[in-house]
Amino acid sequence: MRIGGRVAVVTGAGQGLGEAIALRLASEGAAVMVNDLHHDSATRTAAQIRAGGGRVAVVAGSVTDETVVRDLVSRTVDEFGALHILVNNAGITRDKLLKDLTVDDWDAVLNLNLRATFLCSKHATPFMVQQRWGRVINMSSRAHLGNKGQTNYSASKAGVIGFSRSLAFELGKFGVTVNCIAPGIIATPGVTSLPHYQSLVDRVAPTLPIPRLGTPADVAGVAAFLASDDAEYITGETIHVTGGRY
Ligand SMILES: NC(=O)c1ccc[n+]([C@@H]2O[C@H](COP(=O)([O-])OP(=O)(O)OC[C@H]3O[C@@H](n4cnc5c(N)ncnc54)[C@H](O)[C@@H]3O)[C@@H](O)[C@H]2O)c1
Repeated sequence: MRIGGRVAVVTGAGQGLGEAIALRLASEGAAVMVNDLHHDSATRTAAQIRAGGGRVAVVAGSVTDETVVRDLVSRTVDEFGALHILVNNAGITRDKLLKDLTVDDWDAVLNLNLRATFLCSKHATPFMVQQRWGRVINMSSRAHLGNKGQTNYSASKAGVIGFSRSLAFELGKFGVTVNCIAPGIIATPGVTSLPHYQSLVDRVAPTLPIPRLGTPADVAGVAAFLASDDAEYITGETIHVTGGRY
């Protein structure tokens, strides 16, 4: 129970990586506030945590909306008395070549992947500073290094790393660390529903140094480590969870 007594907020925790991270943090002793755009999926994650004996609550809504973010933070503190760990996980893709990419495609991806990370961090970190302990864990992606058809997504995920490194400078002296996880290809519902998913399994996975796609548990274990006291002297870092793929 290395995260026992801590309180975590996980955004986009209704499925995929967010769900796995919420379950893992709860299994290591954290109380968890589950956020997702979809109330039903957030409630399903919460039910799993409750069934395992964990403390959990739900605030559904889009973290692109500052009113929702304020509510998410204040209800976490009201419910659990603190906020120690923020996992900015919610994210989307809208992959197209630049020639086909619309302003709406650009704005939707940047608004969630980067702007919501800023919004949640802005409203949650004052509580961490006040208690002189905190963990901000931001979901970047290996795509921060570039991918054809992902100019919007790559820019957002590279932005998340720059944001995190700068915030790490601001908050380190208060015992608050800010780190990123950059997953490779992880078999979440967001990925298994892609039309080219089977080709990822058949053609890409065998080329990886660890020749399989990642699992949500691969990422959740790293999030739990970053959230723990073991990671106290690590900040501004990006941990790639890619099976060795760059
Ligand atoms: N799966 C991968 O291979 C992979 C690789 C690199 C990075 N990532 C990143 O990891 C994160 C999670 O990815 P995933 O594969 O689990 O995605 P997913 O699509 O399976 O799940 C994302 C969850 O976020 C929720 N969500 C969407 N918009 C939201 C909003 N505005 N507010 C709150 N919740 C919202 C969705 O309802 C969903 O439950 C994302 O930031 C993604 O970019 C994933």
